[in-house]
Parts: sequence; structure tokens; C-alpha cells
Amino acid sequence: MKLAKSVPEYSKVDKIIDSYSCEKSALIAILQEIENLYGYLPAWALRRVSEKLGVPLIQVYGVASFYDAFHLTPRGKHLIRVCLGTACYLRGSARVLETLEGELGIKDGETTPDLEFSLQSVRCLGACALAPVMVIGEQYFDKMTPTKVRSVLKRVQRRDDKD
Ligand code: FES
Repeated sequence: MKLAKSVPEYSKVDKIIDSYSCEKSALIAILQEIENLYGYLPAWALRRVSEKLGVPLIQVYGVASFYDAFHLTPRGKHLIRVCLGTACYLRGSARVLETLEGELGIKDGETTPDLEFSLQSVRCLGACALAPVMVIGEQYFDKMTPTKVRSVLKRVQRRDDKD
């Protein structure tokens, strides 16, 4: 099979694929490494995987879209998760999510155009006593309210400005 013309980015992906000796059985491991490298699975990289492994592109997409660990679109520098599990929902997490959507100008599941923030609702983060819970990266924020959302976002943006 003839491979697409090589471009600089291809070399990193090729290195990953080659490290698994182009083994079809390593498809998930290869996708995981590409996800780790880019934070998502670029379409061109999936085509490359398909070409080099000799696996139909539709099958590669099937695996990439089946697992929650894989993302087909770029994700923001900060992933904000809002719990909509029962305990959090009863304590107002829907308003927390709405506030975030309003402040960031995106909907649940989307990423801001500047790739700073991604927003994702989840079901129970296992911290129900802290409801409603919001998590940015690995940091938990408890008993969230719309006012606290705005202040946390400002803090994150200020921290980013300093970096
Ligand atoms: S329901 Fe939100 S942490 Fe459990």
C-alpha cells in the first residue's frame, strides 16, 4: 500500500507505530500513545495508523470513538469536569454547569477556540460529601456556586497570565 507523502509530524507518529513493529494487535496501545502526545487523536494521525497497520480506517475510528480515553477533537489546556451525579445535581450542579457555559461561551463537551478550556459533565466523581463538585485538571473544588465558579475561573486565568 502506498503511504501518503511524509510531513514532519508524521515522523513522531511513525516512530510510535514502528515501536510496535506495525502490529495490528497494538492498535489501542498506539492510539493511547498518540493521544498522550497530542492530547487528542488528529484525523491525519488516524489515517497514518490505518495505512501503516493495514487496518481499515473505519475500524481505527471505531476503536478511537469507543473508548472514553480517546478524543477526536483538540482539548483545552484545562479540562473542567462538573459532576451531575444525583448528590451534586440536587445541590445545584446544573447551575454550576450553566455558569461555566456562560462564562466560557461553550457548551458541555466543547473546547474554547483558544484551546484554554474544555468542559465536560460527568456522573459522580466519588466525592458526594463535597457536592456540588467541580474538578479542574486534578484539583477538586467543593460546594460550588455560580459565584465560586467565576472566582475560580478568574484565579486560573490570572495564574495562566503569570506563566
Ligand atoms: S454525585 Fe457528585 S461526587 Fe458523587
